[in-house]
Amino acid sequence: MRKKNPAPNPQFISFPFLGVRYPRLLLWVSGLLLAISCSELPKQSSQPSLHEAQAAADYVGEQVCASCHQLEFQHWSHTAHANIFQQATAQTLAARSCEACHGPGSEHLINPTDLNRIVAFTRRSLTPIKQQNAICLQCHRGGKRIHWPGSSHQNNDLSCSDCHNPMAKLSRQGLLTENSINQTCFNCHQQQRAEFRKRSHMPLPEGKMSCVDCHNPHGSANSALLNALTINQLCYRCHSEKRGPFIWEHAPVRENCLNCHQAHGSNHESLLVTTRPFLCQSCHSNRGHPNDLLTTGQLPGGSLPDARLMNRSCQNCHLQVHGSNHPSGVRFHR
Ligand code: HEC
Ligand code: HEC
Ligand code: HEC
Ligand code: HEC
Ligand code: HEC
Ligand code: HEC
Ligand code: HEC
Ligand code: HEC
Ligand code: HEC
Ligand code: HEC
Repeated sequence: MRKKNPAPNPQFISFPFLGVRYPRLLLWVSGLLLAISCSELPKQSSQPSLHEAQAAADYVGEQVCASCHQLEFQHWSHTAHANIFQQATAQTLAARSCEACHGPGSEHLINPTDLNRIVAFTRRSLTPIKQQNAICLQCHRGGKRIHWPGSSHQNNDLSCSDCHNPMAKLSRQGLLTENSINQTCFNCHQQQRAEFRKRSHMPLPEGKMSCVDCHNPHGSANSALLNALTINQLCYRCHSEKRGPFIWEHAPVRENCLNCHQAHGSNHESLLVTTRPFLCQSCHSNRGHPNDLLTTGQLPGGSLPDARLMNRSCQNCHLQVHGSNHPSGVRFHR
């Protein structure tokens, strides 16, 4: 038979303190307090922080590094940096060779397995991203990187070495981590990789253009890292015939090409955001002549197919949809 109200343990009644009533809680709390106070103790001096190690270290020269890092040295010697650093005048940062990027290395020689003793750029590095990037920016500030501070890549804690690998010549130009710009970007931007595989797409997979034709991965004054001031200015750069001037302008074209087009790829023809006539009907009502939704009989193959659905749909008649220069092209018929 189950007891409804089991008699309380007399031991707990006589000691109503929380800690005694719940002996495990006491252990937890005291353990936590101990951990907090220990974390405030100064770090043991036998394990210097990266900052301390760098302050104490001296430059040892690339020959010393090469004595252990033969393979890295060989790969590196084919890069743009190796070529140009060799010609640097003594005492400049470039003349430090390996140590121009990895910092003075004497402390690293004392204990090479302690990653707190050398500036490193790999995934397991203990060097803060900010410090890694500052090292590259010493020599590469400004230029294309003028908008790096505050860019979405910087804000998302990317390091220069997420896209660049100065240790080997893996790409023809730009010391990238992959053999092409697009491949470098696709490492993280999988969704965009899929967009460029759609039926209609910018000829990027065909090798005719790359992400940096439209984006500056180092940051830009526009949104989405675009390397032009507006989306239309970007598109006009290559599709200059769409710039006009036109006698009869189509307002949405002037406003933003992306009113009707996708930037990367689409499953509708000509990178359109949706198919015609729905594209046109997303803005135009049936004022003037009926262009509302149609019955099944009016669909292609129906009993009375509607001209607005056949072939090029609305553009059977309104063909100059980007704008017209014909004196009577007000409705974009010609
Ligand atoms: C005595 C041999 C030796 C010398 C000399 C030496 N290293 Fe190392 N270094 C090592 C070893 C071993 C490791 C790997 C430690 C590990 O895997 O935990 C290492 C690791 C590194 C790393 C970290 C790699 C990573 O995974 O991020 C860098 C960077 C580095 N060395 C640069 C240098 C530079 C620059 C010099 C010259 C100043 C240099 N090393 C000189 C032995 C050496
Ligand atoms: C222009 C800056 C730069 C210079 C100069 C440079 N490194 Fe590196 N090093 C890097 C970066 C960035 C990485 C990280 C590469 C990656 O992401 O794998 C790296 C990685 C390494 C690693 C880790 C293993 C690897 O290859 O990824 C070692 C070891 C190393 N460097 C040693 C050297 C030595 C030795 C020299 C001189 C011969 C040298 N580095 C010159 C920037 C530099
Ligand atoms: C001591 C100065 C110095 C440091 C530090 C330095 N670079 Fe360079 N870098 C140069 C010089 C000089 C060139 C060659 C001239 C040029 O193209 O601007 C160069 C060229 C490059 C190039 C172009 C290569 C090409 O194929 O055209 C890239 C990319 C690059 N550096 C990235 C980096 C990255 C990433 C870092 C940090 C890991 C770094 N650099 C650190 C001086 C430096
Ligand atoms: C998101 C990827 C990405 C990041 C992050 C990145 N870069 Fe680049 N970088 C590129 C690409 C792609 C190119 C080639 C562009 C071209 O050829 O016009 C390039 C080119 C360069 C060049 C050579 C062309 C030039 O502008 O002179 C330098 C130098 C350079 N980057 C330095 C850096 C430095 C320094 C950082 C970190 C502050 C950095 N990059 C971060 C992708 C990146
Ligand atoms: C290491 C991963 C990584 C690589 C490599 C990378 N990106 Fe990014 N990128 C990000 C992250 C993280 C964001 C911010 C989050 C987001 O919007 O997805 C971002 C955002 C962007 C954006 C949107 C910016 C915005 O403000 O909306 C563009 C455009 C972009 N990246 C272009 C590129 C290009 C071009 C390359 C190749 C040169 C590249 N990325 C390489 C990680 C990466
Ligand atoms: C023809 C020019 C063009 C090319 C080439 C291009 N982009 Fe874009 N991309 C754009 C435009 C325009 C936008 C802005 C879309 C918006 O504002 O809605 C954009 C937006 C983005 C965004 C932000 C998220 C989104 O989809 O809106 C990312 C990430 C991006 N692009 C990555 C890439 C990568 C990676 C490549 C190369 C593989 C690339 N782009 C090539 C024009 C281009
Ligand atoms: C760097 C040059 C460049 C830029 C910038 C550019 N394009 Fe293109 N675009 C091309 C090329 C090249 C083609 C392919 C032409 C061909 O195959 O005949 C193309 C094709 C197109 C097509 C037709 C696709 C098809 O399937 O028929 C459309 C629509 C288009 N671009 C719209 C845009 C828009 C919108 C922008 C701005 C966001 C833009 N383009 C920016 C170079 C560019
Ligand atoms: C009102 C919707 C709309 C807007 C806005 C628009 N387009 Fe188009 N665009 C179309 C349609 C529909 C087609 C396919 C039919 C055709 O060829 O006329 C097309 C086709 C294209 C083509 C491929 C065929 C050709 O004419 O070369 C390019 C390139 C193009 N547009 C560029 C642009 C650019 C650049 C802008 C911005 C200045 C823009 N479009 C704005 C509707 C639009
Ligand atoms: C993003 C909205 C939008 C889309 C999509 C759009 N239009 Fe327009 N269209 C407008 C605006 C706004 C005007 C200017 C209306 C005005 O001036 O009163 C206009 C004007 C016109 C005119 C001239 C009408 C007049 O009163 O002079 C025609 C014809 C036209 N559009 C046809 C089309 C066709 C065909 C398509 C599909 C390919 C299309 N439009 C897609 C917004 C759009
Ligand atoms: C068979 C040819 C034809 C087709 C197909 C066609 N239109 Fe028209 N549309 C015309 C003519 C002709 C006018 C000029 C009427 C006028 O000037 O009074 C016109 C006028 C317009 C106007 C201006 C109307 C106004 O209020 O004055 C718009 C907007 C328009 N059409 C949109 C569309 C859309 C959207 C489609 C597709 C659903 C479409 N048209 C299909 C022939 C056509």
